[in-house]
Amino acid sequence: MIKKDIKITLLEYNSVNELNELERQLVNQAMRTTESSYAPYSKFHVGASVMLENGEIISGSNQENAAYPSGLCAERVALFYANSKFPEIKVNAIAIAAQTNGSFTKLPVSPCGSCRQVMLETETRFNQPIKIILYGEDHIFVIENASVLLPIGFKEDFLKK
Ligand code: THU
Repeated sequence: MIKKDIKITLLEYNSVNELNELERQLVNQAMRTTESSYAPYSKFHVGASVMLENGEIISGSNQENAAYPSGLCAERVALFYANSKFPEIKVNAIAIAAQTNGSFTKLPVSPCGSCRQVMLETETRFNQPIKIILYGEDHIFVIENASVLLPIGFKEDFLKK
């Protein structure tokens, strides 16, 4: 038996002012997009903004449903919309922010497993790392790519015969 440790690296910032201009723009857009969230059940309003290689920013918010599993997270709304509007354009980055009880979360938002899987697919599809920016009032995490967030992820290679 061999014990293997997997180490992940992230950058932690204390304020959006420490981010570069493009990162800050993307975070601001994700923060604004929380306003369009439809979250009457959880009251957890999430916004996600995707930066494309052509400079376009595409945003989405979580959309809930009385039949709970029919809803969708902000990250997947934004990524699926970006990829359906611009199927040939690479995704460079995604920023995520969330509000509850009228305030942004203190901790950086942590994307769910399904959203991590979709980020990984997008990264693999375009062969381009996606920078992930997780906003929180106290800290902001910047993660180099989706496979950092989803180690040992399931990819198309497993489907090859
Ligand atoms: N949610 C997101 O949209 N993104 C995340 O990263 C975490 C969770 C949504 C799903 C659901 O509408 C609500 O937040 C509570 O889980």
